[in-house]
Amino acid sequence: MKPSIRSVPPALGILTATAGLAALAGAQDGGQLYTTYCAACHGVNGEGAQNGQFPPLAGSPWPLGNPDRSIKILIAGLHGEVEVNGKTWNLEMPPQGAMLPDDQIAAILTYVRSSWGNKAPGVETSRVKTVRAATANRTTPWTAAELLKQHPLDVKPPVADLISYVYDGTWKKLPDFNTIKAAATEEEHNGIISIAKAGRKDHFGMVWEGVLDLPVDGDYEFYLAADDGMRLMLDGTPLGEVDGIGPIQGREKQAAGKFAKGPHKLRVEFFEFEGQEEIQIGWRKKGDKNWVWLTDRKAANKPKWPDIMIEPVAEKAAIYRNFIKGTTARGIGIGLPGGVNFAWSADHFAPELIWQGEFMNGGHHWTERGQGYEPPAGDHVVNLSKGEALPEGAKFLGYKLDPKGNPTFSMSIGKSRLLDSYKAGGSDTERTLVRTLSLTGEGSAVDVVITDTLPVQAISSTEFALGNLASVASGPPAPKPKNGKLVLTLATGQTATLLYRWK
Ligand code: HEC
Repeated sequence: MKPSIRSVPPALGILTATAGLAALAGAQDGGQLYTTYCAACHGVNGEGAQNGQFPPLAGSPWPLGNPDRSIKILIAGLHGEVEVNGKTWNLEMPPQGAMLPDDQIAAILTYVRSSWGNKAPGVETSRVKTVRAATANRTTPWTAAELLKQHPLDVKPPVADLISYVYDGTWKKLPDFNTIKAAATEEEHNGIISIAKAGRKDHFGMVWEGVLDLPVDGDYEFYLAADDGMRLMLDGTPLGEVDGIGPIQGREKQAAGKFAKGPHKLRVEFFEFEGQEEIQIGWRKKGDKNWVWLTDRKAANKPKWPDIMIEPVAEKAAIYRNFIKGTTARGIGIGLPGGVNFAWSADHFAPELIWQGEFMNGGHHWTERGQGYEPPAGDHVVNLSKGEALPEGAKFLGYKLDPKGNPTFSMSIGKSRLLDSYKAGGSDTERTLVRTLSLTGEGSAVDVVITDTLPVQAISSTEFALGNLASVASGPPAPKPKNGKLVLTLATGQTATLLYRWK
């Protein structure tokens, strides 16, 4: 059976009547609205309802991250296949947009994003209003595939806070690694257990420690396989092992256990004698079909995708229009000659990331069909800002490139127009990014946020040290610290030039 609006439990009708009263009283209580409009299908505690018939919201990545994704789901509905935490549903969520005004959608999502272990910032009514207006002619429910293209999920690393240790030695059985000194230690920020990272071939061992976050209380199954030996421990207790030397085939094992929802201490021990080396570890909730892999399962020595470096050609800037880690979905990467790079967000009207050296590695997106966000390939990466840099109502009109590929982004704000241009400056020994902002038209002065993430310290009236960035110098007109941000106020007819300098 395909549950649809017709299969909503009858209780919903009764509950809706009480919500009407709450709305009349003017109280936008997100929790109460959730109970009225969502709990019948998604469960009182967001656990999904009716024996797993409806997908959960607790622990789901869908309502987290960029709120536009769930705003769209609430307004126009969702149909077709959707995967939540490794399990696939193929149902229909009816649109709620006609029933729920903007402030109620904002209140419900704020509640969902901060309840049952979910942790994401609240949603503003103005955001719902913007999305509703932008999608006004969408009359059919979204598909998951469409939404993922517009707002990819923030992928959680399989193991949080993962650290790897490498040991040198020759063993034919698992040694007691606690009595051996590690030859190398590294933080594995992608959260993936990988032997290749050790850069060794034979006669070595590895240990990984990190945190495994389990989504619900219940029975779990684990898959273990290795060439040569390995042991898996959770919360300090061995769960299973494949000991001795031998190929991976025919030595695969499964383990099981009951675990509480939440974080668990994970420890994996491994040694390689000679020949092939590989490790495979997966977990799943009992009854689920798919394993969640903690290891880079394929041939351990091969990287997942080739390096395809993108760089300026013939002194002309390079452009990267794909998901860049650290900025929004509509981030535009620009690699200027001389190794000065930045990513400009068309959602926030700002250069959100600036960095030096290598620009981007296109291998990941070009060979894996554009899944996930790729970080900058270079160094000295600075996160300049993460909120909207212009006042409400600003619109991105587009960008133009000059013959050298230097971009100018253009925005409208009421009756004014803001042009935001970039080029590389400095010398071989000191690289700088030169940004020119000019305001034209008939509107009033405009505040442009230069940073809302970095601590601001005045060096002079026109120069500011920003956290780990050496300085931004400008002016006149010069930016000023304001409410913990650095803000440039630009009057109509004015042009400001900012110089971003690294340490
Ligand atoms: C009539 C039942 C029903 C109601 C009421 C309902 N949903 Fe859903 N919801 C679903 C179904 C079914 C899906 C999966 C649709 C699919 O398979 O494509 C879903 C999917 C979702 C998803 C994405 C998948 C996930 O689990 O994270 C979110 C987010 C969501 N709903 C939020 C809400 C919120 C918030 C409300 C209350 C305003 C709500 N829904 C009301 C049935 C419902």
